[in-house]
Amino acid sequence: MPLGGVERIIYGVSDMPGSVQFYDDFGLNAIKRSDAEVIYQLEEGSKVILRHIDDPSLPAPHYEGSGVRQTFYGVDNQDELDIYAERIGVDREVKRGKDGQSIEFLSDCGIPLGLRVWSRKRVSYAPDPVNAPDNIQRLNQHRRWRYRARPKTINHVVWRVQDIEKSFAFWRDRLDFRLTDYQVNAGIFGRAPGAMQHHVAYFQRFDALGPPPHSPGFDHVAFGVEDIDEVYAGWNYMERRGYKNPLGGVGRHRIASALFCYFDAPCGGMAEYGADTDYLDDNWTPRVWAPAFGGFMWTSRILPFLPEELPWEVSLDDSQLPKGAVPEKTAQYSEKMLGNYRSGSGEKK
Ligand SMILES: [Fe+2]
Repeated sequence: MPLGGVERIIYGVSDMPGSVQFYDDFGLNAIKRSDAEVIYQLEEGSKVILRHIDDPSLPAPHYEGSGVRQTFYGVDNQDELDIYAERIGVDREVKRGKDGQSIEFLSDCGIPLGLRVWSRKRVSYAPDPVNAPDNIQRLNQHRRWRYRARPKTINHVVWRVQDIEKSFAFWRDRLDFRLTDYQVNAGIFGRAPGAMQHHVAYFQRFDALGPPPHSPGFDHVAFGVEDIDEVYAGWNYMERRGYKNPLGGVGRHRIASALFCYFDAPCGGMAEYGADTDYLDDNWTPRVWAPAFGGFMWTSRILPFLPEELPWEVSLDDSQLPKGAVPEKTAQYSEKMLGNYRSGSGEKK
């Protein structure tokens, strides 16, 4: 499997006790606690690491304040790591980890990244069947009762950037990311070639949609939970503890279909519970979304900036995509799909 999902994120935080309390409450499992760092490990084996904002081991900050300072993606083996080290190292410094199992470098837009040899553990799910009138999937059987959310995966990391196309180009050309969806002049969703969730990285134009702050930097990290019950259990638990959710409680995104609940995090940016996102492979055709239509969501609490309805503005017209945005393989498939769609023999996605 080629380069995959997020293997670890490393925070630099100014409020260590508040940050630790937050992720304890959020449901992460700490495997190390010391004055210098706290390490959480998720079921898939990925890690969330909290360090002090001025810890000398952290890369230089690329924005002000607390937040994720470095993001690592997993690769399968040493050979792949070496290939990427060579490719990325042609025009920038690539630092090797002490154990030889990782490399660190900066993206074109100055975001500190890394790759690490990682054997991702498969997470075992047992989602309860869902009933609907006359579609009985769960007979004589109640649903499991949930008390807390226990995130199992790191799904994606989102950055607010100056130039979404330039930022994404590095992930596409150097890390083989696929373009998933394009929100015109507002955001680009990208998927790592070895991951299946709709996006592993999202680049949001810093002054476009979403709540403040409207400045370049880290925006949020999303964690995967099993189902809607777990999203709600997490929401309730965090609400009772006084954490603020700026996006109207639990909702569902139009792009990616994912259920969500975001919280402002003392460690910087937001942390998101996510469930029931779209999963994709290279047969996916990237779509072009009008920014507001694509960014629409239903939420538990209506947000003042959400209109009641928006015109249906999404297309498969790849002539509107940024130049070179689609890797060749996907572009060929996209052309085939578009051809089928235009001739009426394909399914509209
Ligand atoms: Fe997200």
